[in-house]
Amino acid sequence: MFAHRPSNRQRNAWVVSLLDVQPADRVLEIGFGPGLAVAGLVRAGAGHVYGIDHSAVMLRQASRRNAAAIRAGRVTLITASADQLPAALGGPFDAILAVNSLGFWPAPADRLAELRRRLAPGGRIAIASQPRCPGATADTSRGAAHDIENLLKQAGFTQLSTETLPLSPPVACVLAAS
Ligand SMILES: C[S@@+](CC[C@H](N)C(=O)[O-])C[C@H]1O[C@@H](n2cnc3c(N)ncnc32)[C@H](O)[C@@H]1O
Repeated sequence: MFAHRPSNRQRNAWVVSLLDVQPADRVLEIGFGPGLAVAGLVRAGAGHVYGIDHSAVMLRQASRRNAAAIRAGRVTLITASADQLPAALGGPFDAILAVNSLGFWPAPADRLAELRRRLAPGGRIAIASQPRCPGATADTSRGAAHDIENLLKQAGFTQLSTETLPLSPPVACVLAAS
């Protein structure tokens, strides 16, 4: 379902475009699901894409979708939870993203503060949300953006800006710098 809904594809492609990745960029995605954004980041020319997801089912799907890039040494996907970033993940990263994932993390402000420490100087983060609760509207998306902005500020991020993709309901993506 995550992989085939047109809005999920649009949402992930849009967030990737907002990050404007460069060939030397090391990018980390938290909660990659079926790996749509990972594939988009590879197509966009990111140097190396790392991803963690706590679901073994999602790891299998994302690994199938990105098999060629994994073989080529451009993608590393790991089963792990956002609250226990594996040492093997390394870093620092030039960009970090999470799409419809932060809402599931325990203590998200603490998780974001840890991710900020994993960013290289000048690194950026993109946290996106398209509310999936029944009856979600543009107001629900605005509320989600507001919550993400507050969490990013609590975690010490600066230069926040919020973008909106007008789907139904809209996707909100908050970008920030380390
Ligand atoms: C709604 S899906 C979104 C998947 C993908 N980002 C997308 O937009 O297509 C949320 C994903 O986050 C993962 N996830 C949820 N909580 C997590 C956590 N604490 N640590 C790592 N991954 C998590 C889930 O396994 C799932 O793959």
